Amino acid sequence: MKKHTVVICTGTLCHVLGGSELPSLGQSLPEAWRDLVNIKGSPCMGYCKDGAMQPPFVEVNGELIQEASVSKVLDCLEKHIAHGTKEK
Ligand code: FES
Repeated sequence: MKKHTVVICTGTLCHVLGGSELPSLGQSLPEAWRDLVNIKGSPCMGYCKDGAMQPPFVEVNGELIQEASVSKVLDCLEKHIAHGTKEK
């Protein structure tokens, strides 16, 4: 079964600028989603090099979330789960 993929940037800038709470995302997932979602960490994804974008960064099935927080990621995941979009 294909899963929804969440990629959390664990690069220094994202971590320092608010991403430190993101690794706890796994514990915040509703029970029913645990089998549907795959959470990965990634070294710097390069977005922080674009001064116009706001870290920390997370991708949900390739969709970029700026200024990511646990609640923003959960909202985005909810949308993806509702629409059944998954990474190809
Ligand atoms: S440190 Fe996160 S995109 Fe560069």
